[in-house]
Amino acid sequence: MKHAKIRYLEAKHSVDERSRSRRVADRLFEALPEALTVGEAGSGTGTAVPWLLERGVTSGSYRGIDLSPTVIAHAQRTQPAALRYRGYDAADTETGGTVGDFRFGFEVGDALQLLGERTHDLVVAQQFMDLVALEPAVDALTAAAGDGGLVYCPLTFDGVTLFQPDHPADGEIEQAYHDAIDNDGDRETRAGRHLLEEFRDRAGSLIAVDASDAIVRPRNGEYPGDERYFLNCLLEFVEESVSAEAVPEVENWLSTRRDQLADGRLSYVGHRYDFLYRTAAEQA
Ligand SMILES: C[S@@+](CC[C@H](N)C(=O)[O-])C[C@H]1O[C@@H](n2cnc3c(N)ncnc32)[C@H](O)[C@@H]1O
Repeated sequence: MKHAKIRYLEAKHSVDERSRSRRVADRLFEALPEALTVGEAGSGTGTAVPWLLERGVTSGSYRGIDLSPTVIAHAQRTQPAALRYRGYDAADTETGGTVGDFRFGFEVGDALQLLGERTHDLVVAQQFMDLVALEPAVDALTAAAGDGGLVYCPLTFDGVTLFQPDHPADGEIEQAYHDAIDNDGDRETRAGRHLLEEFRDRAGSLIAVDASDAIVRPRNGEYPGDERYFLNCLLEFVEESVSAEAVPEVENWLSTRRDQLADGRLSYVGHRYDFLYRTAAEQA
C-alpha cells in the first residue's frame, strides 16, 4: 500500500488517538480477559502495543502482522525503545519485545492468511477494513477470534473527505478522489456503512459502534505534532488520484489547499466508524 510510509503512519497517530471512540474502547476493555492473546491485521508501526499497556494490559501476548517489510522492521526496531523511553521495563526480542508478562512481536505477511483459526481473544483491524474485500476479511477476522472472541475495527473510513475553507471544486474533487479509491483493487470508500451491515447479518453481536471522525484543524496557524505533514500527505493522495481530465480545476484546487496549509488555515474531516463485535459462542 502506497500510503504506508512510516512518517505518514507516525504523523496520523495523534489524529487517531484523538478520534478513536472512547466509548467503544471502554466497552472493549470491560470485555477483555485478564491474560489475553491479541492479533492485529495491518499493524503498521505497532502503536497498538503502547495503547494496550496504557489501558492496563499486563499479561498475555500480541502479534502484529503487516504486508510491509519496512513498516514491520521499523516496529520491531523502535517499539521496545519507545516503551523504555515512556518508562516501561521493556526488553528486546527477535521480533519485538516483552514488558513483564506481556510479549509482543511483529511479522510480515497477509494477516488474513496468517491470523489462523480460534487463536485469539481479540483481533484488531484499525484503519484496515476499507483496504480489503469486506466479507472474506470479516470471515478471516471472526475465525481468528474464535468462539465468543472479540473483533475490534476502529477508524473504518466511510465516504466523507472534507476540506475547509470551501472551494467551488470540492464536490467534484471528493467524488473523483473516492471514485479512484473505489477503482483501486479491494479498497472501498463506503466500508464503514457496509461493515455495519456485514456484522448485523452475522450470528454474533455488535457490542458497540460509534463515529470516530478524523478532524485536523490549526490552532493559531499551527498544527499539533506532525499533522501538517499528515495533511500534506492527504493532498498528495488527491493529486495522485484525480487527473485534470476528471476535474479540470484540480490544479487550482491543489495550489489553493497547499497555500492554506502553509498559512495554517486548512482543516480536514474524514468520516470513520469504530466497531466492536463479539463472535457467536459457537461459530459454524
Ligand atoms: C492505513 S494503514 C493502518 C496501519 C495501522 N493499523 C494504524 O492504524 O496506524 C493500513 C496498513 O495495513 C497494511 N495491510 C494492507 N493489507 C494488508 C493485509 N492483507 N495483511 C496485512 N497488512 C495489510 C498496510 O501495509 C498498512 O500498513
